[in-house]
Amino acid sequence: MIDIHSHLLYRVDDGPLSLEESLVLMKQATENGVTDIIVTPHSWAFAGEKNMDWLQDRFARFQEETRAIPIQLYLGMEHAVENYRRFVRRIDKEGILTLANSRYVLVEAMRLESGEEAEELVYEMKLRGYFPILAHPERMGSVKKDISIVRAFRKAGGFVQVTLEACDPTGSGMFHKAAIALLKEKQIDFLATDTHGLIRNCRNLAEVKKRIEQYVGKEFVQQVMIENPKKVLMDQEIKKRR
Ligand SMILES: [Fe+2]
Repeated sequence: MIDIHSHLLYRVDDGPLSLEESLVLMKQATENGVTDIIVTPHSWAFAGEKNMDWLQDRFARFQEETRAIPIQLYLGMEHAVENYRRFVRRIDKEGILTLANSRYVLVEAMRLESGEEAEELVYEMKLRGYFPILAHPERMGSVKKDISIVRAFRKAGGFVQVTLEACDPTGSGMFHKAAIALLKEKQIDFLATDTHGLIRNCRNLAEVKKRIEQYVGKEFVQQVMIENPKKVLMDQEIKKRR
């Protein structure tokens, strides 16, 4: 598996508190068949001296520190979109850190309220040459009520990442309900862990993956956990089936 959403980098945001914790998580990931991880710290964690150069250095050091573990690491970010117009203006001014140097950008847009807003965000980002990936829509208040915002986001050309664990058919809760609705309709382009540390990660990833395969078919799981993430790493365009 290629994990495109993980807060694996320790002491940067609300992820692991120590290198040891990151190492345990990485060992666990290898045992579950993870080969590549894009680390995606929250954009809100960066201000002042903690800027993009700082992050690049920190990431390079992390690669050194974790060299013994056979997982290829890449740098990315999870960008909070409070207001999509302001977000786009900021891209114009400052540029944006993408996933693994590709054109794909992971966005957390918890406040998107309508299909029109979703379409506009996708449109403005595509206009600038980026492919937005909506992070964990199953957590969004609007999506929990109605998944049509996700349909609009994808129809406009955006991509959708759902948390792997939320799609476990044996799960429960509100996130689970929305995630399963998205899974049933195949309104998902990526499944990823959104690992935050030892208390928030998918410890039994391989088993969860198997259960999702039984629920929705192996081919689809292969696409959203390997094929599409591979396209991100290679910066290739993903052709969606409708
Ligand atoms: Fe995240």
